[in-house]
Amino acid sequence: MQIVHSNAELAEAVANARAQGKRIGFVPTMGALHDGHLSLVRIAQEQAEFTVVSIFVNPLQFGAGEDFEKYPRTLESDAEKLKTVGADLVYAPSAREIYADESGVIDQSVKQSAGAAGQGFEGAIRPGHFDGMLTVVARLFDLVKPDVAVFGAKDAQQLFLVRQLAERDYPSLAIVKAPIVREPSGLAMSSRNRYLSASEHQTAQSLSRSLRAGEAASRVAGASASSVLAAAQQVMAEVPEAKLDYLALVDQSTFAPVAEDFAGHALLLIAARIGTTRLLDNQEIVIEQPTTSLLGARE
Ligand code: PAJ
Repeated sequence: MQIVHSNAELAEAVANARAQGKRIGFVPTMGALHDGHLSLVRIAQEQAEFTVVSIFVNPLQFGAGEDFEKYPRTLESDAEKLKTVGADLVYAPSAREIYADESGVIDQSVKQSAGAAGQGFEGAIRPGHFDGMLTVVARLFDLVKPDVAVFGAKDAQQLFLVRQLAERDYPSLAIVKAPIVREPSGLAMSSRNRYLSASEHQTAQSLSRSLRAGEAASRVAGASASSVLAAAQQVMAEVPEAKLDYLALVDQSTFAPVAEDFAGHALLLIAARIGTTRLLDNQEIVIEQPTTSLLGARE
């Protein structure tokens, strides 16, 4: 496994792999790697013969007062983990390498905008976050030039926006969704879990419990958006130490909140603060045919 820091070294390694007829798989990360990240690498390896993992804590996607400075930077242990799963290349650039042109000036033309689907939920709470995320992802796509890129279902709104970006600007790039990897307790793995104290870790388990309650409610005959949300809400109401930012049910195909008579594939989203740590989670929900819409159909 090779570790490179410059765009020139990256380009050379990728060109060599291509010359050998290999397809390029790509997993962008911010490091502090856990088993969730490693599962993405394994999926990339199933889809391509040469896997590139980027490690870059992207300043553009952090707001003022967020955890950019304290975000864990653990390149050495990250590289060890990536070696064990057989990644081919680690690209760990500086901000200058990613964003500056040859004269050291940040090129404003690379800036991306998330649009309407980036305004709600995480976008509302973290203004500018998705513009910064898409900017670095587009930049990384331009530099790595992958055939396949793998993103985690854990960051559902991010995945939705990356798919939009790829459909518009990178039509030959396949975006692959990786399932959420959880701790045995149900807590979704996250680089930010390491900020949690033991008691906060207990509290954090309420997020996945709430999603499971929503999912169970969706299986009851006649379940609707409101019955799913009420079941999820009830779990969170019992855990006041978790400060809920949002709990919502969105249409998977639009990322807009569903109406009460919605039937189809939805995502139950949750975000909460536990102490100073923000955590996200989500769960796919299928609503068959709510009783309300059956009643409506009879009228
Ligand atoms: P980061 O938070 O490091 O996550 C990198 C990738 O790992 C993302 O696609 C994320 O969804 C996925 N991931 C994280 N935890 C996961 C889990 N428990 N199960 C499955 N996948 C998981 O997301 C980012 O970095 C950045 O925004 C990035 C895309 C790299 C752009 O800077």
